[in-house]
Amino acid sequence: MNQESQPSFPHRAGHGATPGLFDATSKLAAILIGAAAVIAGLAAGLRNPFLTDAASSQGAAIDALFSITLGIAAVIFVVVQGFLLYSIIRFGQPAGDETDGPPIRGNASLEVIWTAIPAAIVVFLALFSYRVLADIERPRGDEMIVEVTARQYAWEFYYPTSDIQSNELHIPLGRQVLLKMRSTDVIHAFWVPEFRIKKDVMPDRITEARITGVQLGTYPVVCTELCGAGHAVMRSQVVVQSDAEFRIWTASQAAGKLRAPADPLAYGRELYNRLACNSCHALTDAAAVGQIGPSLDGIGGRAGATVAGQSAEEYVRLAIVKPNAYLVPKYQPVMPGDYGLRMSDAELDALVQYLLTRK
Ligand code: CUA
Repeated sequence: MNQESQPSFPHRAGHGATPGLFDATSKLAAILIGAAAVIAGLAAGLRNPFLTDAASSQGAAIDALFSITLGIAAVIFVVVQGFLLYSIIRFGQPAGDETDGPPIRGNASLEVIWTAIPAAIVVFLALFSYRVLADIERPRGDEMIVEVTARQYAWEFYYPTSDIQSNELHIPLGRQVLLKMRSTDVIHAFWVPEFRIKKDVMPDRITEARITGVQLGTYPVVCTELCGAGHAVMRSQVVVQSDAEFRIWTASQAAGKLRAPADPLAYGRELYNRLACNSCHALTDAAAVGQIGPSLDGIGGRAGATVAGQSAEEYVRLAIVKPNAYLVPKYQPVMPGDYGLRMSDAELDALVQYLLTRK
């Protein structure tokens, strides 16, 4: 190898000439850019709190852990950067000084200090995290169980004690709720940002999470595991209500279930939303705005003319149980093929009849 073709370090080049890369203007520019970035970052950070207030008791415990970790990290950052800055100013190479620095062979007490302090911090954080984890996973006496089913691309909440099924999670204020979660297809993840709780939902096992709402309000339930074309719209909401409101909601859900078949239109509309058709197909009558699949407004009027020799009813029924038999142009074959298994024959009939009325 030819020695002369090797690049030489800029500050070793020449005899005392100021190399271009590190001249005073460049240094000043670097400092100004750095300072501007820090100020812009602080301004953006202060204007946009990246965590909303925790609305669950678990969230408060997690926030405490987060604040302490962030505080320790901030102190370490300032101390280390402080030493660095001090060393640059105090021990920087004076202009024209080309000599080597003095040889130094370790420093036992310094090494003990910079090993012991981080070790103590790590042990402290491990114990603290363990306590928080044990606390947020501990069952409290009268917890309420809700079974959560995730599927492409909807959430379903089932209350076994009252035999109620809903697209929204309603929980009473201050009561611990145990979520038993399962997926019918791929891996999803349950996340309520305001609760700070995030947990994978798997097809082959039941995962659990405990939540206790401590602030009345409505918060988003977000799927936070990429699960397919409709991942971004796989959302629901959790409503934290007072005990009385929760009881009214439970009663109205139970009553709705009994009354439903008596009013075919209302029942069809309820099925449409309960089976999560609404998350992909817009339908004005059901207040559905999904965009993944074709809009079903007017489906009853045009279904009969879609495939030659097939009645409107046959077409609608087939489109539900065998969604890929005929694809509406420009739409992807993403509708699950198991809708026939998800509902009873009576429910399928009711849904088909309901859609046929949409002319
Ligand atoms: Cu379900 Cu992403």
